Amino acid sequence: MLTIGNCRIESRVADITTLDVDAIVNAANGSLLGGGGVDGAIHRAAGPDLLRECETLGGCATGDAKITRGYQLAAKHVIHTVGPVWYGGAHDEARLLASCYRRSLECARNALVRSIAFPAISCGVYRFPADDAVVIATRTVIDMLPTHPELEYVIFACFDDAMHARYQRELAALTGRP
Ligand code: AR6
Repeated sequence: MLTIGNCRIESRVADITTLDVDAIVNAANGSLLGGGGVDGAIHRAAGPDLLRECETLGGCATGDAKITRGYQLAAKHVIHTVGPVWYGGAHDEARLLASCYRRSLECARNALVRSIAFPAISCGVYRFPADDAVVIATRTVIDMLPTHPELEYVIFACFDDAMHARYQRELAALTGRP
């Protein structure tokens, strides 16, 4: 766990759909019409009204994010972001992944979100190397904190222990970073 200003940042092994936070982030695809992985789990848990709202959004570009209500989830909002598919690293993947975290936090700020949970965007079927993704996720979130002073709690929700260990390592390494 890491505390910066009034914001607590931690990693947790959790099914993100169960978290009682203001917003959970969805690792969606450009259609925003659902899919597998965390996207499928969020749509199942939120119920069919989530898809109905997503159908009105006109999709989402890679690196961008759009916000909806959370419907049957404990979370009030879902922020849908589209991570890059990993094509070897020379296709702007790192910049686009950082943009997902930035744009998600901008949506969160506009909705006055004080607590948010992120999955490991692009680390599943989109194949982004997890070690690099975790560095991008943690640093981008921390760098955004000054623009979102009302944010109190950030959870990196991990589906397995190996991912959790990566976040733990990175958060520990960032402690004391200027
Ligand atoms: N809670 C937390 N993390 C989860 C959950 C969950 N319920 N389920 C999976 N993960 P992925 P991507 C982890 O594949 O790589 C979808 O079909 C998973 O272990 O869900 O961004 C979309 O529609 C992994 O670490 O997302 C897109 O087409 C991480 O979440 C595409 O997959 C992300 O894995 C997006 O691919």
